[in-house]
Amino acid sequence: MNPLDTPPSSLSAPHPSPWQLARRTQKMNPSVIREILKVTERPGIISFAGGLPSAQTFDIDAFDVACHHVLKNEGQAFAQAALQYAASEGYAPLRERVAAFLPWKVDPAQVLITTGSQQGLDLVAKVLLDEGSAVAVETPTYLGALQAFTPMEPRFVGIASDDEGINPADLADKGREARFLYVLPNFQNPTGRTLSEARRAQLVSVAECIGLPIVEDNPYGELWFDQPPPLPLTARLPDQSIYLGSFSKVLAPGMRMGFMVAPTAVFPKLLQAKQASDLHSPGFNQRVIEQVMKGDFLERHIPKIRQLYHHQRDVMLAALAQHMPSGVRWNTPQGGMFLWVQLPSVNGKPMHAVDLLPVAVEKGVAFVPGAPFYSEQADTSTLRLSFVSATDEQIRKGIAMLAAAINDYATTLV
Ligand SMILES: Cc1ncc(COP(=O)(O)O)c(C=O)c1O
Repeated sequence: MNPLDTPPSSLSAPHPSPWQLARRTQKMNPSVIREILKVTERPGIISFAGGLPSAQTFDIDAFDVACHHVLKNEGQAFAQAALQYAASEGYAPLRERVAAFLPWKVDPAQVLITTGSQQGLDLVAKVLLDEGSAVAVETPTYLGALQAFTPMEPRFVGIASDDEGINPADLADKGREARFLYVLPNFQNPTGRTLSEARRAQLVSVAECIGLPIVEDNPYGELWFDQPPPLPLTARLPDQSIYLGSFSKVLAPGMRMGFMVAPTAVFPKLLQAKQASDLHSPGFNQRVIEQVMKGDFLERHIPKIRQLYHHQRDVMLAALAQHMPSGVRWNTPQGGMFLWVQLPSVNGKPMHAVDLLPVAVEKGVAFVPGAPFYSEQADTSTLRLSFVSATDEQIRKGIAMLAAAINDYATTLV
């Protein structure tokens, strides 16, 4: 018998895991939303839970033409460059198109192409946050940003916010110590709200006065319904702001293409962080996007998305007005993909969206509870509805089911 077949008795005890995880992993959690989506992705369920753009808006033919162009029309050297390693800053013609597309004067040298704007959030965290650094955030805010910042072990400072967005007076009070303010001025995820012109002016003046940098995340700004939103904050305070943009909601999230505009004081460090992270964003995808931007495709395409989402919002608003029990409140977003609902109290007992969810799923409809979007002191009576991924019929049926679920849940509280 081979002596190695019999392990010494000290080795036969169950072995603890050989992996010693970094301390920061204790703060990492699975996205609550992804976990919820798993439950709600039962076949047949009408889901208002996801944050995905409508797949109807993906123009497959335009991508087909653009891909063919990149690989065939421009010659072999161009196609080879598209498939080769490349500069971390991004494909120069795309950087120029992005700069020209933005509504204020941007030097293409300030544009960094990112692998989705989610990467921009990760780079911002790596470059600007130390353990214990304060980050000022809206109440509530984008969960994916909280996730991207959390591994750097910052301290979140929630700034009071209402239907018009962040409260500048509260920012003046609480923002002084923060490394930056993370803000979504347009059709915010999760609430759908927009920062008014007056608030933008006040917010910029507070930020300037207390020397607070701004990280402005704007993936939904192009998806306006009746009128474009006011000018971005970065346009008003370019040396003190980082702007994050995305092609996910106007073209296709599967391309994983986004960008950031950063002042010279931080650009080199963001670039180094990007180099370490993924060397560069896919050169092929960058050329495809540049090709799509070269013609007037976006100018023709984006209005179709606006029209579709506007219509879907109206269908959802009408269904809410028709079916919701009294006391339930919701907003009227002027663009984007989401609507925010507040549940009432019954006999002084608050309704919790997390407790409503299983009742709703049982009836065949899903949503995302609002609580995970709060950095602190969550309002558990809130929930987010996406109006863009269901048909008109599904929206009407789903909202009727949700109203029935609220009624059923309310009876358990009386
Ligand atoms: C507010 C916000 N920022 C950033 C992102 C990330 O977008 P992407 O990485 O696809 O550009 C999302 C995605 O839903 C979002 O809602």
